[in-house]
Amino acid sequence: MYINKIKLKNFRNYKEQEIELTSGINLFFGNNAQGKTNIIESIFLCSMGKSFRARREKELILFNEKESQVEIQYQRKDRTGNIEYYIGEKKEIKINGVKINKMSELLGKINIVLFSPEDINIIKDGPSNRRRFLNMLISQVRPNYIYTYNLYLKTLEQRNSYLKNITIENKNDALLDIYDEKLADSAVIIHKYREEFINKIKEKIGKIHSEVTKEKETIKLAYISDCSEKEKYKTILKENREQDIVRGYTSCGIHRDDIYFFINGKKIDIYGSQGQQRTSILSLKLSELEVIKDEIGEYPILLLDDFMSELDSQRRKNLLKYINNTQIIITCTDDINIENVEIDKFEIKEGKVFKITA
Ligand SMILES: Nc1ncnc2c1ncn2[C@@H]1O[C@H](COP(=O)(O)OP(=O)(O)O)[C@@H](O)[C@H]1O
Ligand SMILES: [Mg+2]
Repeated sequence: MYINKIKLKNFRNYKEQEIELTSGINLFFGNNAQGKTNIIESIFLCSMGKSFRARREKELILFNEKESQVEIQYQRKDRTGNIEYYIGEKKEIKINGVKINKMSELLGKINIVLFSPEDINIIKDGPSNRRRFLNMLISQVRPNYIYTYNLYLKTLEQRNSYLKNITIENKNDALLDIYDEKLADSAVIIHKYREEFINKIKEKIGKIHSEVTKEKETIKLAYISDCSEKEKYKTILKENREQDIVRGYTSCGIHRDDIYFFINGKKIDIYGSQGQQRTSILSLKLSELEVIKDEIGEYPILLLDDFMSELDSQRRKNLLKYINNTQIIITCTDDINIENVEIDKFEIKEGKVFKITA
């Protein structure tokens, strides 16, 4: 699939901008703080229904303005589509001119895989980065996932606030039993989805990683979770109940899930070199691309935000040659030229986009 047009109005540092894209490789280059990532952010917004970096959506509105609008026209293999995203006094999203009522209706309309320098945190940092990776992947192809996930989070919040307000002496076991039951119901559904998609990644990543490293390394993933079976999870909740009351929060569940990564049998976050961590992330993201492709029957859009800056020219070339039949949207501080690779170019200066004609 690909995006043909992006229209921005009062979005970040763009007053009014229209951009026409090619279904192949699109490069946005320019100095720092000119608005390159803002373009990626506008696409992400229309795809995932939220920003990857704004804490509050109002931050997306051009300074001193009251409302903002992003419109994206896209082409899928069997149909065209149009997303309009308004942020202002109230938020409103339209798909093909029709207002939606639930965020889950938006998910999966524009499928993306985002590569950014911060991705290294998926391996290096805490488990929340790995759960976010899973959430982004699964919610795009299984809208019911995010519905169940939000239900889980709501129940978790209720359970936690109950825990905070009781002491071991005056606890009401019956009420906690109800929360546990409800939490476990959604936990096992989320677990099933996560297990399914980790398995799909596992099927892809071995081959991709041995290509990336020229067969020197084997990579393995393990899904770590308390929630494989409902009764088992409920037992764990029970075992931790007294401790949870003292702490005032729920210490086990889907919100504590993790994925361990191993190279040649050793955990990458502990024993892997910087280079091994980087190639593992690349393999993981390329696997994500393939998994989404299998799900939707066409390649998702690849967003490379500042990702090229860290690669030398040979690695840039290898990556772009590796990925075919995919729309690629690249941001980079410098211009990129690769022999026999056609690239549509745009220069970005102070919130304005200038098409470079060859
Ligand atoms: N709501 C906003 N209104 C106006 N300008 C903004 C807003 N949010 C961010 N900016 C500006 O956008 C620029 C950063 O854009 P960004 O796309 O991250 O830059 P880069 O080209 O380095 O990727 C900064 O100049 C910042 O001041
Ligand atoms: Mg940037």
